[in-house]
Amino acid sequence: MQKILVTGGCGYIGVHTIVDLIQNGYDVVSVDNNSRSNANLLKGAEEITGRAIKNYAVDLCDFEETRKIFQENSDLTGIIHFAAYKSVGESVQKPLMYFENNLTSLVNILKCAEEFNVPHFVFSSSCTVYGSPDKIPVTEETPQQPAESPYGATKQMGEVIISDTVKSGNIKAILLRYFNPVGAHPSTLIGEIPLGRPANLVPAITQTAIGKLPTMQVLGTDYPTKDGSCVRDYIHVSDIAHAHTLALDYLVAGQNKVNPEIFNLGTGDGYTVLEVINAFEKANGVKLNYELGPRRPGDVVAIYANNNKAKAELGWDPQYTLEEMMTSAWQWELKIKDQQL
Ligand code: WQD
Repeated sequence: MQKILVTGGCGYIGVHTIVDLIQNGYDVVSVDNNSRSNANLLKGAEEITGRAIKNYAVDLCDFEETRKIFQENSDLTGIIHFAAYKSVGESVQKPLMYFENNLTSLVNILKCAEEFNVPHFVFSSSCTVYGSPDKIPVTEETPQQPAESPYGATKQMGEVIISDTVKSGNIKAILLRYFNPVGAHPSTLIGEIPLGRPANLVPAITQTAIGKLPTMQVLGTDYPTKDGSCVRDYIHVSDIAHAHTLALDYLVAGQNKVNPEIFNLGTGDGYTVLEVINAFEKANGVKLNYELGPRRPGDVVAIYANNNKAKAELGWDPQYTLEEMMTSAWQWELKIKDQQL
């Protein structure tokens, strides 16, 4: 069985990807120091798959400790690298913490991949690398604008580090640019566990709906969009997860045409904040207590994906509708309501 090292395996997207990998015949080990994630999520993945999943609680900024993982797993077919800090707002307050953590961990993982001849590498990138695009939908060739935050800059720099590394070595890499991952696995055994008050829209909606938050704000209603609120491309986390499995299959089969190869992971549909709120209320039969508030600095007015390349090359076909994203997010919030996670 092909063994994959998943960094950040206890995180929201990491744990959903581990489930999809195992269900598609891969063997998986995780490395996650749980500084920003909850080890309980891996138990949910074990319950879904019926498989024990090993996690190394190692800080990837510690090269020697990271290297020991590769010594113990010298048969790795590939690496999927999720581990990174990902809060846009926090990155603006603490840029050096973001550059140090996100880039040191990436360099260490790549150094080990080279030393131990791991042939395939999939990187968790983000639509943030496009900044505020002049033209939408964005394709993989859309020119990148300056990043809107240090977090976005670490994704842009991460892509450059990987591109330069694989050009001179034997690693084959794929960069996956996620749009807005939302929702939870249909089993409600895994989902998103925001740390503190959620910055992202959908957890803010579900926590307000369940009463964890007294209210939430629509951050800006005077944008040049159909209803004044920002447009994003929301994509179910299980669809994102499956794209990682398809990306590995593609690399293992030697189908990649360039190195690295880049794919947008979005549905190709853009929805406004108010449309998402309405979809949530309609799909779940709940009324959301929200207010209209001021713009959030750094927000892009509108962005959504042209996903034709991932569909054509990877055979990726996102399955979940916006309503299903909203019902799965709500079912997860209801499930964890009284748990001390
Ligand atoms: C979406 C829209 C907000 C909260 C970020 C990262 C991106 C990726 C996904 C990691 C915006 C509005 C939000 C609220 C609101 N993360 N909003 N009220 O900013 O598009 O993307 O998360 O990879 O890299 O940049 O996602 O969910 O924060 O915001 O109105 O309480 O919802 O203004 O228009 P964003 P988001």
